[in-house]
Amino acid sequence: MVSLPSVRVLRVGHRFVRDDRTLTHLCLTSRALGAEAIYLEEVEPDIARSISRVNATWGGDFQVIEEKSWRDVIRKAKKEARTVVHLTMYGVPIQEKVSELRKSKKLLVVVGGPKVPREVYFAADYNIAVTSQPHSETAALAIALHEIQNGEELKKDFGKSTLRIIPKDRGKRVIRS
Ligand SMILES: C[S@@+](CC[C@H](N)C(=O)[O-])C[C@H]1O[C@@H](n2cnc3c(N)ncnc32)[C@H](O)[C@@H]1O
Repeated sequence: MVSLPSVRVLRVGHRFVRDDRTLTHLCLTSRALGAEAIYLEEVEPDIARSISRVNATWGGDFQVIEEKSWRDVIRKAKKEARTVVHLTMYGVPIQEKVSELRKSKKLLVVVGGPKVPREVYFAADYNIAVTSQPHSETAALAIALHEIQNGEELKKDFGKSTLRIIPKDRGKRVIRS
């Protein structure tokens, strides 16, 4: 089995309104698609509870980490020799850089919220676009994680869990383990 790179996700940007749904989707998408942790500026108790419930039910130990300073997260990532990949519609198309990105064993993937500080573009090792059209951080993150890991994340084993899905053509089969 191919080993997955170590991928962490950082969400940068102030929240003008509470957007728990977007943040929850970012956490769930990061977890399902092979990342090991996400850094958020603020972790609402509801989000922390919901992700730890998902871990307990479906496996794995995905972490949601509160970190007020995105600069500190990037600084620490660089010290750990993580490749810092900022997703932005203004960046270089992912298809032009994906073979380089696949060589990294450790990455920090950065997504923005409503407003991304200019400094992030210069702190990143790569500014990468998933099309040069505006869409959403969750969509951009999902495609970037999938491309960077060459689809291997789809086979990730989440280990011990309370419930496990037995995939079926039709209907639902879930077993308790
Ligand atoms: C709603 S957008 C905000 C766009 C905002 N105008 C900005 O400052 O970039 C939120 C985030 O989604 C991601 N995103 C949106 N479209 C993207 C694209 N085409 N390629 C890569 N990332 C994208 C980026 O991480 C962006 O910061």
